[in-house]
Amino acid sequence: MTNTTFTPRVFSGMQPSGGLTLGNYLGALKRYVEMQDQGGFETIYCMVDLHAITTWQDPADLRAKTRELAAGYIAAGIDCEKSILINQSAVPEHAQLGWVFNCVARMGWMQRMTQFKDKAGKNAQNASLGLFAYPALMAADILIYHATHVPVGEDQKQHLELTRDIAAKFNHDYGVDFFPITEPVIEGVATRVMSLRDGSKKMSKSDPSDASRINMTDDADTIAKKIRKAKTDPDALPSEAKGLENRPEARNLVNIYAALGDMTVEQVLAEYGGAQFGTFKPALADLAVSKLAPISGEMARLMDDIPEIDRILARGAEQARKITAPILKKTYEIVGMVGA
Ligand code: TRP
Repeated sequence: MTNTTFTPRVFSGMQPSGGLTLGNYLGALKRYVEMQDQGGFETIYCMVDLHAITTWQDPADLRAKTRELAAGYIAAGIDCEKSILINQSAVPEHAQLGWVFNCVARMGWMQRMTQFKDKAGKNAQNASLGLFAYPALMAADILIYHATHVPVGEDQKQHLELTRDIAAKFNHDYGVDFFPITEPVIEGVATRVMSLRDGSKKMSKSDPSDASRINMTDDADTIAKKIRKAKTDPDALPSEAKGLENRPEARNLVNIYAALGDMTVEQVLAEYGGAQFGTFKPALADLAVSKLAPISGEMARLMDDIPEIDRILARGAEQARKITAPILKKTYEIVGMVGA
């Protein structure tokens, strides 16, 4: 544990591969905005393009997706006057600290990472070395800012524990109190938004069925149609949360309603307990459209002005480097690099 007091600072990021979904919005992005607006934190948000290339990306597509994600962040409420918005590769200290952390993290730690096992699948020998090292770069993303809080979805918990282990090992191995032990921020009713076609699977941009997810670029009709067609069971909604146990599809739709409406599940069920899906789905569709259509509209507007997006990112990188350059310099001094 460290005794140093660190500036309360939030860092988080998403991969620019694939589009933004409702799952990304409710699971992470909405919280990014809340943490920005609540005050008391410096907030830094990132598109992790270096992580994206751990699996091959078409270059033109990666560029487009990176800008689209930036547009999504801004449209959802990330305000560049309040937060620093960056593209990972534009701030070289992430990769530089990532190398140092490759030398701190142990093979055994990395081999336990379930996301690597899932992504590499059966053919792990053919996965990139970058995919294996992915969590050490993620630790560097966070610790190059001495970030204290990281809002992420449940699936990133193990990576954040690894980040804490890397910080602690670095501090221990070099006898310093330099990197903070970062707190994960994992909360909210719908941090895990599930597929609309299968309530046991996470909503994902890589699911082959587009009907399984709501994309942040979907228009009002598409959103309404996908919700109408979402898989459910034949029963009415229960009036208490306990009644959603073993009803994954029903629970998912109620969770989504609660998260979009800034309500608790209990409040939603107080209103809709006893209602059939024939009543609840149109209400959810209306709520989703009213919350998401303005975001997708603003995204489309921003995507029409690429130079403006690039200007915002250039400015973000400049602001970020004021924080990252001194932390990298100090790290290099600690580990014994000459000329740091
Ligand atoms: N691994 C994260 C994900 O897949 C993305 C990520 C990379 C990240 N670096 C990060 C998240 C740093 C939080 C902090 O969602």
